[in-house]
Amino acid sequence: MNVIEAVKTRISTRAFLEKPVSEDQVREILEIARWAPSGGNLQPWRVHVVMGAGRDRLVETVKKAIAENPLANESELAIYPPKLGEPWRTRRFELGEAMYELLGIPREDKPARIQQLMRNYEFFGAPVGLFFSLDRQFDKGQWAHLGMFMQTIALAAAEKGLATCMQEAWAARARTVSEFLGLAGNEQLYCGMALGYADPGAKVNALRAARAGVDEFTTFVTD
Ligand SMILES: Cc1cc2nc3c(=O)[nH]c(=O)nc-3n(C[C@H](O)[C@H](O)[C@H](O)COP(=O)(O)O)c2cc1C
Repeated sequence: MNVIEAVKTRISTRAFLEKPVSEDQVREILEIARWAPSGGNLQPWRVHVVMGAGRDRLVETVKKAIAENPLANESELAIYPPKLGEPWRTRRFELGEAMYELLGIPREDKPARIQQLMRNYEFFGAPVGLFFSLDRQFDKGQWAHLGMFMQTIALAAAEKGLATCMQEAWAARARTVSEFLGLAGNEQLYCGMALGYADPGAKVNALRAARAGVDEFTTFVTD
């Protein structure tokens, strides 16, 4: 697989097979991703991998926290601006509608939509979960570098036949996850990522999120 194929075939996978992924496989992907660029070569990222019994314990811990306080939001970051403007609002809406349509869940069926959302907190069945954090001294630049690192992981995984889903949903349980992982006080949790083998039979994995055309986001200055 070349880079272009990896970029084009990587999707957010939301249903995984139970097929295990070994620590060696995860290490191999991280060995590749560590070559991602970062300003000043700071390499600001930290990764916390949960797998095996550790993954199951985390899922149980978060499930319990959700049952005790379903509406809690432990996020230190606003995932989206409170008043998301256009065209971003429509893009977000259309993504959700496309996903629920594939799953056959109508707008009125709020419990089924919530149930699908809750699948985030079991990594959509993936055997491996990665969490990404940054030292609190870092600002927007280093957050961007972390994003490059995460995408490099996703592309390396794609080449290895593995699937991923980046998951900001975990931010809503950031305190619980941080405590579980034993993050130091100066470490801020950003995002999770599910990693495993895609379930090819799952309807949700047929979702292909649309993209804006190049001219919608590009300006060329040519003279
Ligand atoms: C940083 C980041 C966080 C995301 N968080 C979630 C999430 O919590 N749950 C989810 O189902 N998808 C999540 N996504 C997936 C996006 O919805 C997806 O990338 C977008 O719709 C484009 O689709 P594609 O990844 O399949 O190309 C996230 C993506 C990124 C980049």
